Amino acid sequence: MGSFAGDTLGERIRNHFGHREHLYGVLLDEIGHDWAAGGVCRELLAGWESAPAQQLPQLRLLAGLFRVVLRGEAPALAAFYPCLGGTRAAQEAWPVALPVLKAYAEELRSALTETPQTNEPGRTLALLVALSAAVRRTGLHRVRLLEPGASGGLGLHVDRYRFHGDGWSWGPADSPLVVKDCGAEGFEPTPFEIVDRRGCDVNPVDASTPSGADYLRSFVWPFHVERHTRLAGALEVARRHPVQLDREGASTWVSRMLAAPPEPGVLTVIWHSVTRIYWPPEETRAMEAAVERARSRMPLAHIALEHLWDGSTPDADAGQLPQIELDGIRLGIAGHHGPPVHLDT
Ligand SMILES: C[S@@+](CC[C@H](N)C(=O)[O-])C[C@H]1O[C@@H](n2cnc3c(N)ncnc32)[C@H](O)[C@@H]1O
Repeated sequence: MGSFAGDTLGERIRNHFGHREHLYGVLLDEIGHDWAAGGVCRELLAGWESAPAQQLPQLRLLAGLFRVVLRGEAPALAAFYPCLGGTRAAQEAWPVALPVLKAYAEELRSALTETPQTNEPGRTLALLVALSAAVRRTGLHRVRLLEPGASGGLGLHVDRYRFHGDGWSWGPADSPLVVKDCGAEGFEPTPFEIVDRRGCDVNPVDASTPSGADYLRSFVWPFHVERHTRLAGALEVARRHPVQLDREGASTWVSRMLAAPPEPGVLTVIWHSVTRIYWPPEETRAMEAAVERARSRMPLAHIALEHLWDGSTPDADAGQLPQIELDGIRLGIAGHHGPPVHLDT
């Protein structure tokens, strides 16, 4: 990864990766040069010259371009996308990408307003680990699963995915998603049944539709083939089992969902992953207060796969691995996209 630094937008784009070793490295190097030379990319990115570097307009542009490819409208360019089976050398991509950038300029300009948004189904590994502990602790096997910051809701299908770890396996053998290399030696999955599931997001994505699925795929780098394979499996599950996602911020939604207890004998689980770093501090405080208030009214477990949060400012250090928490107690750490999990001993 490059430095994102530079005096001009063109330099920042070229420095994003700072190499030409994969498709996006080549494209951003060329886009940066094209911008400096006053080519189509100067027009495409007009108005973004002074945008804060962390808004990453270059990745928004690449995601927009990827969506054109995913729709099947740029087959020559698709030949450079490994996740689509493309095998052409990245070094040769620019002359093929340039006409697509020109032809889709209007669409790509509006793609710049879309904040990159991923949904990593492999993170449900952390939910599986903590949920098993919660079910063992409470003796309640019937679960109401509620996920704030759910994006496309792929984190709500934990019982429909298959997991393989060190010495253990779990989930339907015929699941379209098999999460491999889960680690978590010594983990003992505990049976549970999800009787209700629902999520919210400030920008929910309907992953059961082709355009929603493409939207989520477009933000995963095309040479991260394993992530794309997992995402494709989860999107198939989402297509078969659409879930309800509300457009709402985390804290008001969690308060609303917890206003009424479920039927007796059901464990309510509030679960979230890699979303808290994007919340304003008061969102986190308000959600945690709502969870604590509800504990006297219903059996409840709060499960998180999140980066450490110091209680005041959002933690910007996404480089550190996220940790798995059950009711505020750390159980272990996971990879950025889920596997592998290392349990605390
Ligand atoms: C990196 S994605 C993670 C999505 C999913 N939890 C996962 O792990 O794959 C972060 C998500 O948080 C959502 N988000 C950001 N601020 C939020 C808020 N205040 N309330 C609810 N969702 C929020 C974003 O829209 C985005 O979908």
